[in-house]
Amino acid sequence: MIAAGTGVVVTGGAGFIGSHLVDALLGVGCRVLVIDDFSSGERANLAHHAGNPGLTVAEADIRDEAAMLRLLKGQKLVFHLACRNVRLSLKRPTEVHEVNATGTLNLLKAAAANRVRRFLYTSSSEVNGTADVIPMPEDYHFKPETVYGASKLTGEYYTQVFQRAGWLETVIARPHNNYGPREHYFGHKGEVIPRFILWAMAGMPPIIFGDGLQTRDFTYVTETASFLVRLMASERAAGQTVNVCRGDEVSIRQIAEMVATLSGRDLAPQHVQGRPSDVLRLFGDNSRLKDILGDTPGISISEGLARTYNWFAANVEPTPEVLESMKPMNWAQAQAEEWLSAWEAG
Ligand SMILES: NC(=O)c1ccc[n+]([C@@H]2O[C@H](COP(=O)([O-])OP(=O)(O)OC[C@H]3O[C@@H](n4cnc5c(N)ncnc54)[C@H](O)[C@@H]3O)[C@@H](O)[C@H]2O)c1
Repeated sequence: MIAAGTGVVVTGGAGFIGSHLVDALLGVGCRVLVIDDFSSGERANLAHHAGNPGLTVAEADIRDEAAMLRLLKGQKLVFHLACRNVRLSLKRPTEVHEVNATGTLNLLKAAAANRVRRFLYTSSSEVNGTADVIPMPEDYHFKPETVYGASKLTGEYYTQVFQRAGWLETVIARPHNNYGPREHYFGHKGEVIPRFILWAMAGMPPIIFGDGLQTRDFTYVTETASFLVRLMASERAAGQTVNVCRGDEVSIRQIAEMVATLSGRDLAPQHVQGRPSDVLRLFGDNSRLKDILGDTPGISISEGLARTYNWFAANVEPTPEVLESMKPMNWAQAQAEEWLSAWEAG
């Protein structure tokens, strides 16, 4: 375990997974510095820690190299989670590259210069692209389908280089899809499970992109947070890349059915055109995680979905504004980069 009092940085700590990681770290008595630009993260995600002297929040952009060098001074451990999301990368790939790839390089440099004891890079299953080997091992033949996936893979490669060069001790954690309390639902940031839940709460059917046979390997978010902490603390994880997933493949159609059952309503899904660059199959091999830590995430999708449904029912209202923001293709409203607008115009 990480010793109480250790100085720990969490980039993206106001985000969905990051805020649960902060909960776990404060829970074991760490001194936590959150670095976040609040582009998708929310202060509300950390509001329950108000007044806790163990938490400091710095509003800063990881693209600001000088600020990262300054903020990491005296810190022992860095969990790097800050990133721009997959749907933004469909319209603004340069911004996504600059934050996810160059921002990661900035942090690695700042961590090395400050002699941080260990750096954990949070990658993503999206580096793999659609699975054609099942389950997907860590040393998969990467074929990312988006600039998001490619930028997360670039971050992995930079992290590996810092490890090989001896500049830093690193761990690469590669979570698969997460879900649970505080997951994004609004606008283009909205993810599938909260959207299905909020539609069900409003008595509306789930809208599925394509046939709904796409699969994901879902992990309940508090489990991911605790496995990230354990990987950071594990001697055996040094220099490793590790999938963090349940190893359980579930289709989007199955999720829609389970959410409808939880709502107690008869909600037949509506199908609309598939999202461009949607990865069709993701299903991870978690045997390395089991080998290193002795176990793997254990909360089943039915248990996790019930918890998530209850959290949303208690905390989020499906107001007309929320429902309007969840319209299909909402990601297409982001202003495309100039070259992409020109390409789209033919
Ligand atoms: N959510 C998932 O299902 C999932 C799956 C696999 C991997 N991941 C990875 O986990 C990490 C966290 O994802 P999440 O779902 O919590 O996303 P999120 O959008 O909720 O969190 C990202 C955080 O980073 C912050 N951020 C973005 N750009 C920044 C910048 N330039 N400087 C400082 N802060 C910045 C955002 O404000 C936000 O708080 C990411 O690295 C992501 O690639 C997530």
